[in-house]
Amino acid sequence: MTAQPSPWPPTSSADFPRIGSLPAYVFAAINAEKLERIAAGHDVIDLGMGNPDLGTPGHIVDELVEHARKPKHHRYSASRGIYGLRDGMAEHYARRYGVTVDPETEVVVTIGAKEGIAHLMLALLGDGDTVIVPSPAYPIHRYSVLFAGGRVHGLPLVAGADGFVDGDALLAGVEEACRTVTPAPRLLVLSFPNNPTTLQAPPGFFENAVEVCRRNRLLLVHDFAYADFGFGAEAPSLLAVPGAKEIGVEFFSMSKSYCMAGWRVGFCVGNPAMVGALTRIKSYLDYGIFEPIQIAAAHALRAGQECVAETREVYRRRADALVGGLNAAGWPVPTPAATMFVWSPIPDAFREMGSIEFARLLLREAGVVVSPGLGFGPEGEGHVRFALIEPESRLAQAAERIGAVLGRAAPG
Ligand SMILES: Cc1ncc(COP(=O)(O)O)c(C=O)c1O
Repeated sequence: MTAQPSPWPPTSSADFPRIGSLPAYVFAAINAEKLERIAAGHDVIDLGMGNPDLGTPGHIVDELVEHARKPKHHRYSASRGIYGLRDGMAEHYARRYGVTVDPETEVVVTIGAKEGIAHLMLALLGDGDTVIVPSPAYPIHRYSVLFAGGRVHGLPLVAGADGFVDGDALLAGVEEACRTVTPAPRLLVLSFPNNPTTLQAPPGFFENAVEVCRRNRLLLVHDFAYADFGFGAEAPSLLAVPGAKEIGVEFFSMSKSYCMAGWRVGFCVGNPAMVGALTRIKSYLDYGIFEPIQIAAAHALRAGQECVAETREVYRRRADALVGGLNAAGWPVPTPAATMFVWSPIPDAFREMGSIEFARLLLREAGVVVSPGLGFGPEGEGHVRFALIEPESRLAQAAERIGAVLGRAAPG
C-alpha cells in the first residue's frame, strides 16, 4: 500500500497516519453523552469504566506519605523499577504460586499493565507480524498490536461450563490460525480471569496453551490483571506451568488487587529475553515511577494480604446485588465467576438495536452508564458490561431503574 501524504497543516488528529488508521473509539460517544447529562444536573450511576472506587488501603498510603517527604526520593527513579519492588514481585510469585523468578532479569516494573503491554508489543513485533487475540478483549490487547505495526487475528472467546472459558475450542482455534494464516502468527495474547467476559481459565488450560505455543513457535503474553478476583477457585498463573518461562511472560497489576489504579504500577514477569526487550525499550522512553510509589507498592506486596481478600469479597457481594436486582427486574444476567464486572447478553427484545444504542438507551432513560460490548471487539456485540464500582445500594438502585426502562421501552 502506498502511504498517502499527510495533509498540511493538519486539522485533525486523524490527519496523522498512525492515528487515522485506528478503529473508532466506541466508548467516546457514551462518555460524551454521560458528561452532558451530568452537567445538566442528572443523577448518573456510572458503571462504565473498571475504575476501582474503594480507595487504597491505609497502610500503603502511609508508606507513600512517609517516603514522599524525603528529598532523596524526588529524583528520577529507575525505569525498570527499584530492586526492592522487583524483588517484592519475585517474593509474591514464590509465596503465592511456588514460582521462582529472578528479580534482576525476569521482572520489570511497568507504569501499569496497560503501558507495559503496549510497549512490549512495540519491542517484540516487526511490521506486519500477526498476533492472535481472543475477542472480546481488553482494548489495549488489540491496539498495542496495531500501534506496533502488527496485525490482529481475532478468535472468538466461547464460554464453557461453570464460568470457565471453552479452553479446547480456543486452543483449537489457535492451532488452526497457525496452520492457515500467513505469515504464521508470532504471538498469542491471553487474559484470565477475563475482562470483559468474566471467564476463568479451566484447570489444565495453561499447560495446554504452553504446549500449543511450543508446537507452533508462538510467544505467549498473559495479562493477569484480575489474578486475585476468582470468586470460587483461585485463578491459575501461567508461570506456574513448567517451561512457561521459556516462551512467555505474565503481566500483574497493582490497580485492582490493591485498589491502586491511579498509582500506575504493574509488572511484566517471565521470559528473560522478552522482559529484557521491554526493559530496554522502556529505558529509552521513561525514567520510572515516582520512587515513594514504588516503595509503597513493595510494602503492599510484602505486608498482610487481608485487604486483597476483603476487596474480592466486596466485588463478589456487589455482583450478587446487581445480578439479583436485574434478575428480579426480568433481565436474566449471569452471575460472574471472577473479576469486578458483570457481562451480559442484551435482553432479547432489545438485541436488534445493538450494544451502543442499548447503552445509550440505559443512559438516557435509566441514568446508568454501561460499556457497550462492541467496544471490546466485534465478538462483544450483543452484550454490555457493568463495572462493579459503586456500593451495593447504588447497584440495587441501578437495577431498579433499568428494570423500569426495560418494562416500558421494549420495542414492538
Ligand atoms: C485485562 C486488563 N488488563 C490491564 C488493565 C490495566 O491495568 P493497569 O491499571 O495496571 O494498567 C485492565 C484495566 O481495566 C484490564 O482490565
